[in-house]
Amino acid sequence: MRARITGTGSYSPSNVLTNADLERMVATSDEWIRERTGIRERHIAGAGEACSDLAVQAGKRALAAAGIAPTDLDMILLATCTGDYPLPATACLVQHQLGATKAAACDLSAACCGFVYALSVADAYVKTGMRHVLVIGSEVMSAITDWTDRNTCILFGDGAGAAVISASDGERGILSTHLRSDGNLCELIAVPGGGSRTPPSEKVIAERMQFIKMKGNETFKVAVRTLEEIARETLEANHLRVEDLDLYVPHQANMRILKAVVDRLGLPLEKVMLNLDRYGNTSAASIPIALDEAVRAGRIKDGSLVMLGAFGAGLTWASSLIRW
Ligand code: UT7
Repeated sequence: MRARITGTGSYSPSNVLTNADLERMVATSDEWIRERTGIRERHIAGAGEACSDLAVQAGKRALAAAGIAPTDLDMILLATCTGDYPLPATACLVQHQLGATKAAACDLSAACCGFVYALSVADAYVKTGMRHVLVIGSEVMSAITDWTDRNTCILFGDGAGAAVISASDGERGILSTHLRSDGNLCELIAVPGGGSRTPPSEKVIAERMQFIKMKGNETFKVAVRTLEEIARETLEANHLRVEDLDLYVPHQANMRILKAVVDRLGLPLEKVMLNLDRYGNTSAASIPIALDEAVRAGRIKDGSLVMLGAFGAGLTWASSLIRW
C-alpha cells in the first residue's frame, strides 16, 4: 500500500507587487531583479488576510480535486513559518474553517522545506492506518519581510498550496522522501527577534529584528550543492536515473540556483516546473503551488515520475519522488 496524492489546490492573494512597484520602494531595478533572481512579480496578502485564510482556500480546492469531504480527513498538517499566531497552531484554525471535524491538526516548521517534510509525515501516517491527510504549505512572507531591505524584499511572496494524501493500493504514490538538516548553518536565514531567545520588545522593533535576515550569497552556494546531492540520493534509492524523470518541481527560490542545479544533474529545463517569475519565493507554499499548476496544466499525468526538491532556513533540504 502507498500514500498517493489524489488532489491538489492552490490560492494566491489578488494583490500583485511588480518589480516596478519595488523600484519605488527601495534602490533596485526591474533589470537587476530579473537577472539575479528571475522574478517579475509576486502576490501579497491584503490587509487582514492571514496564513489560515490562504490555507483554507487552497485546502478547499485540493479537497474538491480529490473528491472527498472535509469530514473524511484524518489529519491536517500545515507547513508554515508565518502562522496567524504563535499559539494556537494555524492548522487548528484551518480545521475549524473547513469543518474537518474528525481531523487532528498541527503545524510543521521547516521553512521552505516545510511542504516536503509534511508530505513525509503524511506518507508515514497513511502507511500506518490513516486514510486521508491534507498537507498544506501556506505563507504570508510579507509579514516578516523588511520592506526597506533591498537584499530580501525583492525575493518573497505570499500564497498557499495543498495536497490530499490518501491510502492507495498498487504501485502509484510517494516512492520515498529524503530529509536533511544542518543547524550549524542556522544563521544564513533567520528571523532573529520575537521568539523565546529575544522576545518582542521595543529594542526588537527598533532594530527590525522581527524581519527575515539572509546571507544570500552563501545560501545560494549551499542551495545548489544540497539540491543536487539530495536529487541524486533520491534517484539512487529508487534505482532510477535522471532520464527517467518526467518533471522536477523544485522550491522556487531563484532561477540561477535552479539553472545551476539542473545543469549539474543533466536535466533539460523543459522537464522543470518554473513559476517563480509570477510568485517569487513563497517558502513552504512554493512547491505545492507549482505542483498544483503543473497538474492543472496537464504537465503531470497518471504514471508520471515527479521529483520535488527543496532547501531553506535551518538549513534544511529535502526531496520526494512520486509515481503519479
Ligand atoms: O528559500 C531560500 C531563501 N534564500 C534564497 O534562495 C537566497 C539565495 N540567494 C540569492 O537568491 C541571491 O544571493 C540574491 C538574489 C539574494 C542576491 O544575488 P547575488 O548575485 O548573490 O548578489 P550579492 O548578494 O552578491 O550582491 C551583489 C550586489 C551588491 O552590491 P555590491 O556590494 O557589489 O556593491 C548588493 O548590494 O548587488 C547589490 N544588491 C542589489 N542591487 C540592486 C543586493 N540586492 C539588490 C537589489 N537591487 N535588490
